Amino acid sequence: MRFPESRPRRLRKSDAVRRLVRETRLHAGDFLYPLFVSERVTVPEPIASMPGINNYPVKDVAREALRAFKLGIPGVLLFGTPAEKDAVGSEALSSDGIVQRAVREIKSLDSDILVVTDVCLCEYTDHGHCGIVEEGDVANDATIEKLAQQAVSHADAGADIVAPSDMMDGRVGAVRRALDAHGFESTAIMAYSAKYCSAFYGPFREAVGSAPKFGDRQTYQMDPANVVEALKEVELDINEGADIVMVKPALAYLDVVARIRQSCHVPLAVYNVSGEYAMVKLAAQSGAADEKRLTLEILTAIKRAGADIIISYHAPDVAGWLRESEGQKNG
Ligand code: PBG
Repeated sequence: MRFPESRPRRLRKSDAVRRLVRETRLHAGDFLYPLFVSERVTVPEPIASMPGINNYPVKDVAREALRAFKLGIPGVLLFGTPAEKDAVGSEALSSDGIVQRAVREIKSLDSDILVVTDVCLCEYTDHGHCGIVEEGDVANDATIEKLAQQAVSHADAGADIVAPSDMMDGRVGAVRRALDAHGFESTAIMAYSAKYCSAFYGPFREAVGSAPKFGDRQTYQMDPANVVEALKEVELDINEGADIVMVKPALAYLDVVARIRQSCHVPLAVYNVSGEYAMVKLAAQSGAADEKRLTLEILTAIKRAGADIIISYHAPDVAGWLRESEGQKNG
């Protein structure tokens, strides 16, 4: 059928008909909310480049997690900053470390909030790299042993899902074997499978003080130019035992998301990272865009591309907006 018989505008005429034919809908249940917990603060401390986001002490991080859960967000993704950093990231493995304590605090609340932890050394090393440095580069096999121990200590504290974000080879298998050997066979792994070496992580590195002191992360994170390699990384991680795979960042990588969604059979998480969040906030503050519309458009596009899980600093705002608009429709 062609024009004039065919008129696609018939299905755009009213809010009701648009709702009827809408293909993608956001729900609070789609989201994981990243939270920063730090041994260096005693009260919530705003992160300058991420308006609305704080570094929290343990008690307050639990309170913020609960606030998000009550808005309908199933879980949080925890990142920690220790008081002291060293060359091998020792604090990452401490049973009394900042993330381990935060997990216990959140788990002591009377709620079913899902706790996911970042497994990586970059927040704990004084040089800022994601592993142990030998001869100027990150040593793969020495690093994955540490990551496996870190994952076990998070599981021991009560984490439901561990999320290795370091991009070392073989770390998903190493983490799976270590968890199983310690009786944590029901702790799941969300693998940062296709994590690109991106300029969008700047504000995050400010938040946790993890900008590399020398070099960059190109010898472990992926080249932004590649997509076939992402398919290989996903396949390797699933074979090593990943329960959920991830693409990160989101916006400049939606083609990667769509390709992976078609070819793999586990849930796909997509990380709407700190630089993407900061761009929206800056655009809104300067008056160049409406924050709510811009945010909902971006997150809907991420879901449309194929994300099953969206990790976003906007999560509580979005959950609040979705609740308001549902209230208006039902009321
Ligand atoms: C590394 C890690 C990074 C992020 C999450 N885990 C940054 C990096 O590679 O430097 C970035 C998240 C964001 O930018 O929001 N452990």
